[in-house]
Amino acid sequence: MKFFMNSEEFARRLCSWQREKGRQNLPWFTSDPYRRWLSEIMLQQTQVSVVRDYFARFLQAFPTVDDLAEASEEDVMRLWAGLGYYSRARNLHKTAKEIAAAGRFPQTRAAWEKLPGVGSSTAAALASFCNGEVAAVCDGNVKRVLARIFALSAPINQSKTAKLLQQRAEALVSRTDPGCYNQAMMDLGAMLCTRTTPKCEQCPVGEFCKASRQGNPLDYPVKAPAKPRRTALVHALLCVEIKEEEPWVWLVLRDEVQKGMGHWKGLWTLPETAHPRGVEVARIEHVMSHVTLTLAVHRAEVSELPPKAFAVPASRLTDGPLPAPIKKLLSTLLFDAQLF
Ligand code: ADE
Repeated sequence: MKFFMNSEEFARRLCSWQREKGRQNLPWFTSDPYRRWLSEIMLQQTQVSVVRDYFARFLQAFPTVDDLAEASEEDVMRLWAGLGYYSRARNLHKTAKEIAAAGRFPQTRAAWEKLPGVGSSTAAALASFCNGEVAAVCDGNVKRVLARIFALSAPINQSKTAKLLQQRAEALVSRTDPGCYNQAMMDLGAMLCTRTTPKCEQCPVGEFCKASRQGNPLDYPVKAPAKPRRTALVHALLCVEIKEEEPWVWLVLRDEVQKGMGHWKGLWTLPETAHPRGVEVARIEHVMSHVTLTLAVHRAEVSELPPKAFAVPASRLTDGPLPAPIKKLLSTLLFDAQLF
């Protein structure tokens, strides 16, 4: 295939497309490693349109990595609440402390990769953006692009295939402008080579793409059937008291979590119990990456609550560090006059 003969041409076309048509003017497009690192962590599993506002609020609250390092965990979690995948926020805070203590940001991919929450793809993005290191991003979007370019028949969700794709990605990354190349591959995956509607006619590297030439890009990536997601039923306690003419809700900090139930660690949520006594007032289903959580919410008295529970006034819930589905549930329940 033509592509094997001229990977420099492949990279050149991608980069000129990125400069002309790719995403531009994003607030983190600088060589400032703090902005780059913060945005890459937020962009893991989250779209650019969502990250923009969170990024701006974070930077306003913590203008430098030292400010972030000195912040309280509660403030960090509060600003992260709603973005999901909360281990990212805890790792971000831990890493900020390490960087502040070291007095400088990592200068190589290998050094980035040692930090909590920075995997191989994020480390490649950061080292290429901040230091011009030749390192290839190979995240979900890029894997899909490569699977189509090579019309790969191996299932993309197997570790053997991930290794193969990483090798191909490393062979292709531009030797002269790896940062622009990586951004271009990510933009291509998000803007043209999308999962359900690839726009091959606009693709700058269409002639290098085996799936496009075959006319069947939607047949790639090939996926092996995934294991069904685990389900879990959790009983939560809703205890509300009226104090100072306002409802106060009893919450807990999820700090010690059971194995396999690591979600929402570091956030405030409703206390849980194995044996609910009060009536069930609501039931929500929340789908996460590994588990579908059904939360059955029961009325409870203060005497049923765990000793570490604390009461929070309703007016503090909107900006408190609560998971988005709990925030939403409470705002509905607290305004339901029949309940209280
Ligand atoms: N996802 C992860 N990193 C990204 C980036 N730099 N631009 C767009 N999407 C991304």
